[in-house]
Amino acid sequence: VPARAASKRPPRGAGRPVVRGRVAFALAASAWWAGAGLGCSAPDRPAGGAAPTSAAPDPLAPLAAFEQERRAAADFARLPPSDRALGPDPVALRPLPAGASAARFVGILRGRDAVVLLDASLGEIARAPSPPSPTGLAIGRGGEIYVAGERSSEIARYRVEGDALARAGGLSIEGVHGLRDVAAAGDVLYAVEEHDGRLFAIATGVPAARRELRPGRGAFKVARAGDRLIVDCLLEHALVVYRVDARGLPLEEGAITLRHDGPLWGFDAIAAGGALLIAAGGVEDHPLDRTGGSFGFIDSFAYLYRVAPGADRAERLAAINVSALGVITPKALVLRAQQRGFAATVSGYGGDRVLEAAWGEDRSAAPRLSTRPAPPGIAMLAATEGGGAVFADPLLDVWGTLPPDGVPSLAAPPEPAPAPARSAASKVGEALFFTRLMAPWNLSDDRLSRFTCETCHFEGYVDGRVHHTGRGDVRVATKPLLGLFNNRPHFSRALDPDLTAVADNEFRVAGALSGHDPWFSAPTDELPWVSLLGASEPDLGPEGLRRSLMTFLIEFTHRPNPSAAGRAAFTAREREGASVFERRCERCHAARLASDVEASRVPFDRWEPQTLSPEGPIVWGRSGYEKTGIMPYVHEEGARVPSLRRLYKKWPYFTNGSAADLRTVLDWARFGEADGRPVFYHRAPPEAPLASLTEGEKDALLAFLELLLSQPKSASRRSVLKNQHIFVANFLAPGYTPPGGG
Ligand code: HEC
Ligand code: HEC
Repeated sequence: VPARAASKRPPRGAGRPVVRGRVAFALAASAWWAGAGLGCSAPDRPAGGAAPTSAAPDPLAPLAAFEQERRAAADFARLPPSDRALGPDPVALRPLPAGASAARFVGILRGRDAVVLLDASLGEIARAPSPPSPTGLAIGRGGEIYVAGERSSEIARYRVEGDALARAGGLSIEGVHGLRDVAAAGDVLYAVEEHDGRLFAIATGVPAARRELRPGRGAFKVARAGDRLIVDCLLEHALVVYRVDARGLPLEEGAITLRHDGPLWGFDAIAAGGALLIAAGGVEDHPLDRTGGSFGFIDSFAYLYRVAPGADRAERLAAINVSALGVITPKALVLRAQQRGFAATVSGYGGDRVLEAAWGEDRSAAPRLSTRPAPPGIAMLAATEGGGAVFADPLLDVWGTLPPDGVPSLAAPPEPAPAPARSAASKVGEALFFTRLMAPWNLSDDRLSRFTCETCHFEGYVDGRVHHTGRGDVRVATKPLLGLFNNRPHFSRALDPDLTAVADNEFRVAGALSGHDPWFSAPTDELPWVSLLGASEPDLGPEGLRRSLMTFLIEFTHRPNPSAAGRAAFTAREREGASVFERRCERCHAARLASDVEASRVPFDRWEPQTLSPEGPIVWGRSGYEKTGIMPYVHEEGARVPSLRRLYKKWPYFTNGSAADLRTVLDWARFGEADGRPVFYHRAPPEAPLASLTEGEKDALLAFLELLLSQPKSASRRSVLKNQHIFVANFLAPGYTPPGGG
């Protein structure tokens, strides 16, 4: 059993892995292709690439001026949320059951709150509104379509009627602000919710039944295979495998947890001869090591697991370093049974190859590996007849077809209304963040890694890890990278004063040890897909690449707050919590619209409308260090006061990751006075004669924080709910007809 299956690595010190042959994407949407004024071949390599000479005093000065200009023009109270600004974002698609006519597919557009019906060549036939920010898509056995979104408690149901998508009821799950994924098998629907890590199973037949389990933090993908149900928990770094009962409801008893050191970004599973096979993509199962001067052991891997019939544990059959093969941050995998053995297709969001791994009858033999070009940005793959697949690509904003052999073809979803203008620089910036464009020459040998920012910042947020910094015993939890524009200086040590510094430093750090000058131009001959971004030469030179990354980070604003949706007023408890916050917390977690501008403070009487607006623009943090007892201090003056905005996407809490929930944060808080000045500790020395928050203050604060941070209420009662099966009445919404008409 190979622990790390052999891979075709470029010879050591070879400098740069070269993508052989041009990626010739046959584009189905020819209007889009022609309109963009692009040919299939890559443009010439832009001029530039030389390191700045001493004649150019400060190569970053134009970037600092650019940042200053954007800040001067920005209204921080009204920065548009990034959920729509970054394009239609096709994130999932699935084939509809074969009917009399040609193949059809259904897909969801996360950035347009829409579900779409597609023809065999992925051209759009029909579109219907979906729950906001759709991320989950399932097809029932009769072809019913189920869609769930991140800002709604609803699972919406649709039917295809001729060439139209017709809304056909749906159901709502009480006590959640959003759902991340949905699956269907028989008459049971499964949905997962990431904030609180819950799984809901709803049997829609007669009698209806519902079960709730807690697989763990960041539950974001769910799939059924045979008599097992698998949930991927991003922040717990685990796949949880449940057995289901005769009705298809998952059983807590006998659940198997496959735990890794870091996140698993995607998986696929099949039942084969009573056994369960799981192919998963994730980060190398090893702690980060920064002793080599760069990021060690954060390559991307594909893992193969097998759960034997009736077994209570899983066996790892393979761990393949797919970064070495050009497949980086694999989120989308397809596992298929073949005549003899089985095969996995593994695509990488951050790379530009797709891997086929085939196992014969002897599972313990090394798989046959082959790769071919594919565009970066594949978020989901769905198998089609004959060994091919279709995919959704929110990075390039396209649907695509991956034939069994040959080159993929792409089709962009039409934009019916005038699309919000988006610059090529913004797209290049997104590609720098999410693909190998930022460090094109990184290798994956030994302690070197081929990674993207998303290796630790999933979808721009976090990985639930607490990483060694390489400085003494300092370990720090990852931070979300949305909303950076008005939240400077950056990092807990606050050593990057602005985004100009962030951009320049990240180029240096990401490619360190690659043997290449970080002041480079995009190597469009090696990464021909870059031409799909429509960028001109200036955007792809060394200064342009940095400006592009900054442009993207400026536009990478927080998504709308799910818990504020549809609300106009605080509850009495939330209002009480806001006033405790003002008294106890706000001198540090300041109600500013820009962390370093004191005058941007929002007065208390404006907190309510600002908190409940879609932008929810208050930073709840400020520049400046504080020593609050969270050890070790990352800087001689403590740590920068962090922003509490959308904290539900950051976990665990505190720089050192020592608090697992907000109740703990409040239990530890101590305050008082010293020398006539207020003192506050998040974790005080035990002997200090300081006061705690009263239970009443904690309850009120939690209500306010839950709203602010979008934590579902039950998060604080985790222990009570844990390990219990909970049935909730009234889950069937009026007007809902169960599948099959029952
Ligand atoms: C190995 C994991 C890892 C990778 C890869 C990584 N980061 Fe981070 N990032 C972290 C951690 C951990 C922190 C928190 C550090 C701290 O608090 O000082 C962080 C924090 C940040 C911050 C500061 C956020 C704030 O609120 O102050 C920025 C900016 C950032 N990362 C940008 C990037 C970019 C851009 C990339 C891609 C080039 C990247 N990171 C890749 C782990 C990573
Ligand atoms: C004296 C300044 C100060 C006060 C007052 C203060 N905090 Fe903090 N807070 C900080 C600092 C500094 C950190 C980061 C500490 C660390 O993790 O290194 C922090 C961290 C946090 C975090 C974790 C954030 C994260 O990104 O992990 C939460 C939650 C929090 N504070 C909530 C509160 C609440 C609620 C109050 C009021 C009861 C409060 N704080 C009062 C300075 C303060």
